[in-house]
Amino acid sequence: CGIVGYIGHRQAYPIIIKGLERLEYRGYDSAGIALFDEEEIKLSKTKGKVADLKRISEEQSVTKGVLGMGHTRWATHGVPDDLNAHPHFSNSGNLVIVHNGIIENYDSIKKALQNRGYTFKSETDTEVLINLIEDVKKNEGVKLGKAVQIALQQVVGAYAIAVIDQNKPDEIVVARLGSPLAIGVGEDEFFIASDASPFIEYTNNAIYLEDEQMAIIRRGRDVKVRQIADDALVTPYVQELEMNIEQIEKGGYDHFMLKEIHEQPDVIKDTYRGRMIVNEGIVKMSSIDDHLEKFLNADRIIIVACGTSWHAGLVAEYIFEDLARIPVEVEYASEFRYRNPIITPKDVVIAISQSGETADTLAAIKLAKENGAFVYGVCNVVGSSIARETNSGAYTHAGPEIGVASTKAFTTQITVLALIALKLASEKGSISKSELHQKLAELESVPSKIEETLKVDDHVKYISSVYKDAANFLYLGRGYNFPVALEGALKLKEISYIHAEGYPAAEMKHGPIALIDEQMPVVVIATKKGHYEKIVSNIQEIKSRSGKIIAIVTEGDKDVRALADHVIEVPETSEALSPLVNTIPLQLLSYHIAVMRGCNVDQPRNLAKSVTVE
Ligand code: G6P
Repeated sequence: CGIVGYIGHRQAYPIIIKGLERLEYRGYDSAGIALFDEEEIKLSKTKGKVADLKRISEEQSVTKGVLGMGHTRWATHGVPDDLNAHPHFSNSGNLVIVHNGIIENYDSIKKALQNRGYTFKSETDTEVLINLIEDVKKNEGVKLGKAVQIALQQVVGAYAIAVIDQNKPDEIVVARLGSPLAIGVGEDEFFIASDASPFIEYTNNAIYLEDEQMAIIRRGRDVKVRQIADDALVTPYVQELEMNIEQIEKGGYDHFMLKEIHEQPDVIKDTYRGRMIVNEGIVKMSSIDDHLEKFLNADRIIIVACGTSWHAGLVAEYIFEDLARIPVEVEYASEFRYRNPIITPKDVVIAISQSGETADTLAAIKLAKENGAFVYGVCNVVGSSIARETNSGAYTHAGPEIGVASTKAFTTQITVLALIALKLASEKGSISKSELHQKLAELESVPSKIEETLKVDDHVKYISSVYKDAANFLYLGRGYNFPVALEGALKLKEISYIHAEGYPAAEMKHGPIALIDEQMPVVVIATKKGHYEKIVSNIQEIKSRSGKIIAIVTEGDKDVRALADHVIEVPETSEALSPLVNTIPLQLLSYHIAVMRGCNVDQPRNLAKSVTVE
């Protein structure tokens, strides 16, 4: 979730809305705003995106005031709807809060408050917190800041909060534990936000609250920072921000692509969160449950997509056939739609698209629907055309992907598709409960394996420096990792303009082997699970023709290390989920080579993020 607030002499509304838009990458299933309009705090909130909030606030004339705060939410407690959206009022209507994070002991606090007569409109932990603050304030007869402090001492969990009081038109109280909160210090005005991006054009001075600190911010006066535990006054360190807006949006990384590569552990978690109960071996996806018969009775699944999304489809083909034993065909949307395909009402079509706007994929969906097929979408952009056109679907929760070369969209697509395959496998009984449990546990461990894999960055950078001037690259993989080879080659082509080909390793001898000489770097995915011995022989074939071998291997590997020029180690992962891990070093390799060649990584020539022409 993201928080933005303002207290000063300007109109708060435009600052908050623009700030929320910048923070929308932090979550976008609902949004809200509270403004101190003359004597009264006015509130508007809605399910949906900041654009929806803007429309509703303007309709309801919640746009005036020189103090306010806003929130964009990614649901944790309670479904995304208008009621659960922030800000939340206390029972008396005097206090208002926005909150990021999770209050873990909210249930017991809620019960205690209910016994004292408090009622709750939403299912959120946040509404519990604001009423706890109100209760403390009333019972102890203290001011707002003190009440927040005492209440937070009773709370277990993580939070960044901002609270305002109907009786204090010149004050905002904020606090943090575990969730970020920055205070922008301007001339007689203050900003608050989850990161500095919402206020960077107004001030370069910021105070970053530390964990377990709170601050009382007073209009035209000062920011008083205190330790929540013992009330000790802290002299705030005002940091001078050197970043421009663009860098801030890039979270300190040089390029969006690199930021997005590094976001993968988090966004994969965001994607599977709430969709699986690992201990019970359950996949919870209502979009599948609601149409289970369609899937179980389908003659086959046809996957349509373009580009990187098509590669995710190829990985899914292996997972679906291997685990759920459902025949799958993967089609380029552009080929599918123009070749008079055979489609029947017994087909289930899965369309995969990051943007949800790709023209060919959209047209393929329409064709499939006209022919009676059931169409399911896997999209990243909420409310996109493909998301709306499909009969049902699941979103990846990758957040906005800005770099044109797709990275986190790919791995989150595989995550959703793996969950669907596991769901269908368990419904069909093609895998046992214990296998399902084990597979889910493994999926849960993927983000930490990716964290681990990201540590190869420096080594990959070195390898990049050796091969940055190569004219060609070959990428080889087998089984689940053949699509990973294709994706690795595509990444390199897209951003470094080096010609690269992905090939099934065994097919090499039917053609590409003719290209191999000492000038040819060959990237081989040779991790332990899968067809390891076979791939070792393929590596020998390259070696005996003097090709340069860069191998992705499992930690501790010896056989490939003895043959390869360079090895990049990754943690051991089951074959079915190995594409999620093995693709990471390939993303980094293409990134570093492109940077070293001076290419525009985020906006490579001739390409577009969203291809809305056929
Ligand atoms: C463009 C992008 C690729 C993307 C492809 C499909 O070519 O540059 O990164 O994989 O379109 O886009 P989609 O939004 O449908 O996944």
